[in-house]
Amino acid sequence: MKGAVLYAVGQPLQVEELTVQNPRQGEVMVRVAAGGVCHSDLHVMNGDLTAPLPVVLGHEGAGVVEKVGEGVSEFKPGDHVVLLWRASCGECFFCLSGRPALCDLGAGIRWSGHLADGTSRFSRAGQEIRHFAGVSSFAELTVLPREGLVKIDPEIPLAQAAVVGCAVMTGVGAVINTAKVEPGASMVVIGCGGVGLNAIQGGSLAGAEKIIAVDILDNKLAYARQFGATHTINASQVDPIEAIKELTEGRGADYAFEVIGNPKTITQAYRMIRRGGTLVVVGVAPVTAEVSINASSIMLEEKMIRGSLYGSCRPKLDAPRLLNLYKAGKLKLDELISREYPIAQINEAFDALRRGEVARSVIRMTSS
Ligand SMILES: NC(=O)c1ccc[n+]([C@@H]2O[C@H](COP(=O)([O-])OP(=O)(O)OC[C@H]3O[C@@H](n4cnc5c(N)ncnc54)[C@H](O)[C@@H]3O)[C@@H](O)[C@H]2O)c1
Ligand SMILES: [Zn+2]
Ligand SMILES: [Zn+2]
Repeated sequence: MKGAVLYAVGQPLQVEELTVQNPRQGEVMVRVAAGGVCHSDLHVMNGDLTAPLPVVLGHEGAGVVEKVGEGVSEFKPGDHVVLLWRASCGECFFCLSGRPALCDLGAGIRWSGHLADGTSRFSRAGQEIRHFAGVSSFAELTVLPREGLVKIDPEIPLAQAAVVGCAVMTGVGAVINTAKVEPGASMVVIGCGGVGLNAIQGGSLAGAEKIIAVDILDNKLAYARQFGATHTINASQVDPIEAIKELTEGRGADYAFEVIGNPKTITQAYRMIRRGGTLVVVGVAPVTAEVSINASSIMLEEKMIRGSLYGSCRPKLDAPRLLNLYKAGKLKLDELISREYPIAQINEAFDALRRGEVARSVIRMTSS
């Protein structure tokens, strides 16, 4: 079967024939229908985010169950599933506290590149190839822990289901679950890519009054309006902090969501919120980056800074809920998918992401 492998930082992905072993106890093999092209994969390709290499990349995806390992009774071949990049065990401190995105199981799989038993199912000519976040959706077949899947309605098109696996759950979740934005609030979203556009539509769902989109590309600001932004600011043309103050009676916004992963824009976002406002950091900054924030303002202005991992989601509740909103015409997924590429053109898909040409693109492995 074909898969896209990153062998070293700074290199393009190699699309090649790989061997995939059968699922072991508690694991599920999935035939991937579509894998979404997220900036987090690009961070790994650039070296801004680390992962054990070589690795089959891709952490956003959906597909059809092919085989189940011993002891798995909740899935059967033919089930349609969304792939989760943080498996959650349901039993650890974090899962029991209602914070499954912080689960020990998912974190262990992410940083080791191995499944729970400490081994990989992927190889090529005897060389081990790692899993990425327990998903590896840039492959025709992949193996996941049973805790890393959610069964979905088979009528949902699988490319639309795929983007729920990261962009939608992360962006909408940051607004609804992490920040709990209330009706009538004002919010800023800095960075209007696949994830930021979902923070914008999360703001519409929450009933925010002002949803101010900030980007440096006009085509992204046009997408932002389509997803519900009430105001747009091109930060390459005007000072975005001043522009936000003007739109919020001089106070600053109630909430700002940084969805780029740049220490400079995280600092800008902090300065865009009002006294007592909340900054939510969604973007993944380079591993060694630090942020500079005026220390006394934290106390004097009672500002809050929150991280949001995977939209603070409870995936088994949130994924079906988001897909129901799509079916009800209240969540834009068709509009999110700007392009579909075959796996042979995966490096072109990443070039388009680098250049900022797309809202989201997906790699199509099957036509369903
Ligand atoms: N917290 C999480 O759980 C989580 C999950 C998925 C992705 N992410 C991260 O979220 C970020 C966004 O991912 P994406 O796939 O939407 O990326 P993307 O490349 O599609 O979007 C980034 C956007 O930021 C804009 N931008 C870049 N520099 C800017 C600046 N200085 N000012 C304003 N806008 C600027 C770009 O034009 C682009 O539209 C990445 O860092 C990604 O790794 C985090
Ligand atoms: Zn992602
Ligand atoms: Zn857990």
